[in-house]
Amino acid sequence: MTQSSPESFRPNRESFDKLYRGESPLPGGPPPDAIPWDIGQAQPRLMELEALGAINGEVLDIGCGPGDNAIFLASRGHSVTGLDGSPAAIDRARARAADAGLQVRFDVADATELTGYDAAFDTVIDSALLHCLDEDGRRAYATALHRATRPGARWFIWCFSDGNVNGVIAPMGAVPEDSIRDTLAGAGWRIDFLGPTTYLGNAAGFTGDPDVLPSEVLAAMPPERLEALRQMGERMSKILPLVDGDRVFLPFTVVHATRIG
Ligand SMILES: C[S@@+](CC[C@H](N)C(=O)[O-])C[C@H]1O[C@@H](n2cnc3c(N)ncnc32)[C@H](O)[C@@H]1O
Repeated sequence: MTQSSPESFRPNRESFDKLYRGESPLPGGPPPDAIPWDIGQAQPRLMELEALGAINGEVLDIGCGPGDNAIFLASRGHSVTGLDGSPAAIDRARARAADAGLQVRFDVADATELTGYDAAFDTVIDSALLHCLDEDGRRAYATALHRATRPGARWFIWCFSDGNVNGVIAPMGAVPEDSIRDTLAGAGWRIDFLGPTTYLGNAAGFTGDPDVLPSEVLAAMPPERLEALRQMGERMSKILPLVDGDRVFLPFTVVHATRIG
């Protein structure tokens, strides 16, 4: 991987951990104003799914971040484990569960391995993790989840799409539908439903101006990534004063899948 390849700017375990610690994920960048996905509550589409009875048995919230989805599910009586690759995310999630007075098992784990969780779960929630992984990572993750679940388990995925919501597009690469289909089929998962949906983000987390980054970081960044960051920062800065509580809907794909075999 070259320094300027798109992969060298894909978020990774360390960059996520820096964000949760209030530091810039890019060298020499300013501290973030907000974390783009931290809205301090569960995702509306997940809450609807739960109300409709789709969540059963032992639940895994994988890539749980600050934990609000897992905490919501626990508040509805589910037995939930939240796992994330970032220790700082897990610290936040544990603190939020304690504040809410709810029992959730939160631990650090790599989604592409899930060592020690064989046949542990009946329902898996993936809220914005899949698009953080490259193709090899997505394949390893789907295989690890097959091992970590029981026969008939359900897997609900929300990831960036290449659609738009009132002109708002995804801030980073969407996962192509063909790739989702190949990855899941290759790891023993049947797709029951795949379609467009929305994810509620924190607009204040997207307003950063990339041009404040050190010149060597800008020079190493793929030009299309830099341009996408500039456009996103400009758009979000414009709409921020107009939206309720800094919240903005982002274009996502939702997948409902069942474990086979
Ligand atoms: C976009 S955030 C979404 C967080 C949360 N699910 C939500 O919707 O608010 C993606 C999360 O996945 C975690 N993550 C990324 N790669 C991971 C991996 N290989 N294993 C476990 N967690 C990972 C990050 O630390 C981050 O918390």
